[in-house]
Amino acid sequence: MIDTERPVNRMENPVCPATLAEAQLADEEVLECPYPTYDLLREQAPVWRDPRTGLFVVTRYEDLRQILLDTEHWSNWRTSNDHDNLTGAALRAYELFKEKGWVPAPSLAGRDDPEHRQLRSIFESAFRPKRIQELDGEVEALAYKLLDEFIDDGYCELVSQYAVPLPLIIICKQMGARDEDVWQIKQWTDAWIKGGGFGLTEEQVLWSTEMEIQAQHYFQAIFERLREQPDDTLLSDLVNTPVPGWGRTLNDNELHCHMMQDTFVGGSETTTNAISAGVMLLAQNPKVWALLKSDPDRYLRTFCEEVVRLESPVQGLTRMAKKDMELHGVEIAKGEVLMVRFAAANRDPEHFDNPNEIDLERRNAASHLGFSSGTHYCMGAPLARRELYWAFKAFVEGIEEFALAQGKNDLRHYPNYSLRALNELHIEFVRKTRG
Ligand code: HEM
Repeated sequence: MIDTERPVNRMENPVCPATLAEAQLADEEVLECPYPTYDLLREQAPVWRDPRTGLFVVTRYEDLRQILLDTEHWSNWRTSNDHDNLTGAALRAYELFKEKGWVPAPSLAGRDDPEHRQLRSIFESAFRPKRIQELDGEVEALAYKLLDEFIDDGYCELVSQYAVPLPLIIICKQMGARDEDVWQIKQWTDAWIKGGGFGLTEEQVLWSTEMEIQAQHYFQAIFERLREQPDDTLLSDLVNTPVPGWGRTLNDNELHCHMMQDTFVGGSETTTNAISAGVMLLAQNPKVWALLKSDPDRYLRTFCEEVVRLESPVQGLTRMAKKDMELHGVEIAKGEVLMVRFAAANRDPEHFDNPNEIDLERRNAASHLGFSSGTHYCMGAPLARRELYWAFKAFVEGIEEFALAQGKNDLRHYPNYSLRALNELHIEFVRKTRG
């Protein structure tokens, strides 16, 4: 019998800044539970310049919606795309790419219209609804297969045994990678994420670059094969479909930039983190678990939306000002960068009632900004939603009751300004008896 009543291992003392002077968003302990800081910023400084990163952090739902829809004033261009201005470790990394691999071109997420729209159309064709429908059976079968591998043990580390492999195996197959290489690819994506952290030494940046170059050589062979022999994978479409208005297919540098950022990290880390977060939330909210189990068909879709809303695997991303502007009395000059903090907007009480609670009857659950909004709305959202659906459906159907394994969880997240990733989740459970 599992003791579901015992106190859960919540983060005990989240940092709760009393004043703006105490607000610290880049601090590891704050990132562990940033929600009290978001509340303060939303109320007192909806456009707040983070002293540590220099970014203008925007936290209110309506402000985010407007910025995300307004491509006349806000650009997705990244300063790192301007190679002439690189210095220090970033310059060394660029030279290393040139010497041993391929300098990644600006990705879909880092471009503006009209190029963005043209490029996005080949992604739209690769991610067309029919293909996602065709993949659905595969996602379903994989969720049950992964669960079956540990269901008789009564215990698992859910992140590595379930949440990582489900989306990773699906995307690997769609990217032409071999099944046996899945964990090697995971090492590459982990290295890529580490390379995006703050305050890294040059050595750490170059290590991450070397890892990405290893991945580039692996994928280069696949691009070349698919150019010769197209198949029915998503990557084959990206490799072989001419970009409207460009008069050609993507070159190697343009393909490489999409592998790490937009497909493997964007498309598997995020979903992994949502699956882990969802199970953690269920462990912490026994009433929600009971309701979900009472009628999965009725509640599962809303539960998936609530997980993405509450734990926002992508906490925030940047936009660059195209003109001098003023927002809530704060001057933002052309070229300065702001961060749209999806996770803060997703708990805005002006838009969501009881924003910190999971509400399986919430009517506007799908209006969260966890997948962004506007022209850069997440390309993979339909696939992510199916992966979340099957991950939770198999879990709810296979497991009678469960709880966090005692003494094994610290529920810490990997420190990252943009992404929210639970490191580990140890659970004990009783499987459902076979009927
Ligand atoms: C729960 C899972 C996911 C979350 C939370 C998520 C979140 C996001 C967010 C917030 C953006 C917006 C970027 C912006 O506004 O600048 C985005 C864009 C994108 N996502 Fe996802 N994503 C998820 C799953 C996926 C999957 C499964 C794929 C593909 C396999 C994917 C591919 C992309 C791509 C290609 C873009 C760029 C779109 C563009 O710039 O036009 N994502 N995602």
